[in-house]
Amino acid sequence: MNKIYHSLLDTVGNTPIVKLNRVIPANSPHQFFAKLEYFNPGGSVKDRIAVHMIEEAERKGLLKPGGTIIEATSGNTGMGLAMVAAIKGYKAIFVMPDKISEEKRAILRAYGAEVVITPTAVAPDDPRSYLSVCLKLVAETPNCFHTNQYNNPDNVDRHYRSTGPEILEQMGGKLDVFVAGAGTGGTISGVGKFFKEKKPSVQVVIADPVGSILYDLFYHKKVVTPPQPYKVEGVGEDMLPDNVQLQYMDGVIQINDQQSFDMTREIVKQEGICVGPSSAMALVGAIEWSKKLTKPSNILVLFPDSGRGYLSKAFNPQWLKENGLMK
Ligand SMILES: Cc1ncc(COP(=O)(O)O)c(C=O)c1O
Repeated sequence: MNKIYHSLLDTVGNTPIVKLNRVIPANSPHQFFAKLEYFNPGGSVKDRIAVHMIEEAERKGLLKPGGTIIEATSGNTGMGLAMVAAIKGYKAIFVMPDKISEEKRAILRAYGAEVVITPTAVAPDDPRSYLSVCLKLVAETPNCFHTNQYNNPDNVDRHYRSTGPEILEQMGGKLDVFVAGAGTGGTISGVGKFFKEKKPSVQVVIADPVGSILYDLFYHKKVVTPPQPYKVEGVGEDMLPDNVQLQYMDGVIQINDQQSFDMTREIVKQEGICVGPSSAMALVGAIEWSKKLTKPSNILVLFPDSGRGYLSKAFNPQWLKENGLMK
């Protein structure tokens, strides 16, 4: 049997799903499963959209040889895009807020990309915000393509076409609840749209950090509590991007930083699965949601990335103490 891939990019997707055995409540009538997206070659769920957004841009003639890929990213999309850029011979520039771990910045530079850091605690429309700085770079750089992951429909489309069908097949159709965080919204909206069309009995639930506006937008149709900073990276919103499509959701569960960072350490200790705080947040959300369910259910949580990108934060007692997250 020929087991050789012609390109690293052909190894993206088809990540494993594993049953969680110890980290979930002992008396729960439900079964919990995790889809481990850190098995992707760039280390996160974002490899899926990185390949798809670039190949679609090439196909549409929006990205030409020698061009530059520009994105505002919290790191993982940058990783995926930096990998694609290296393989396909493009330049890459990434703009990210200063709360992003040093490890994530360093790995992007290792792939040959340029990293531009901006302040976290400014409004999205402030000229110093990472989105504003990104748009300025796009306007000033000749022959560039802005992947625009928050609004690019190819982001949702990739999850609709690959992640959703993969999950349904791997679970043998036996799935009742899907829980994930929303950063760009691509994962939850693409998978959500797929389930609403192909298996509408599956509940699609967003796990969202306290401080994000999605809970208010879903339950109150407006922002009641203004956005607040939080420490979990890559998820939650301070404005609504096109790729968060709330019409495919059945609920939003709010999780605070303490819960997410505690659970991050428990998952690796009890299951041997080393993932980042947004994965832990999604699992806490799934456990909370499961308490409302009236029959034993199969619950799948998507774990977006590895814990290795958070050694200086989530796994560093000093950082946890300084941020009031060490009990
Ligand atoms: C660590 C992490 N978790 C979760 C997500 C959410 O994924 P999506 O952008 O598909 O909503 C992201 C996205 O930036 C992320 O970086």
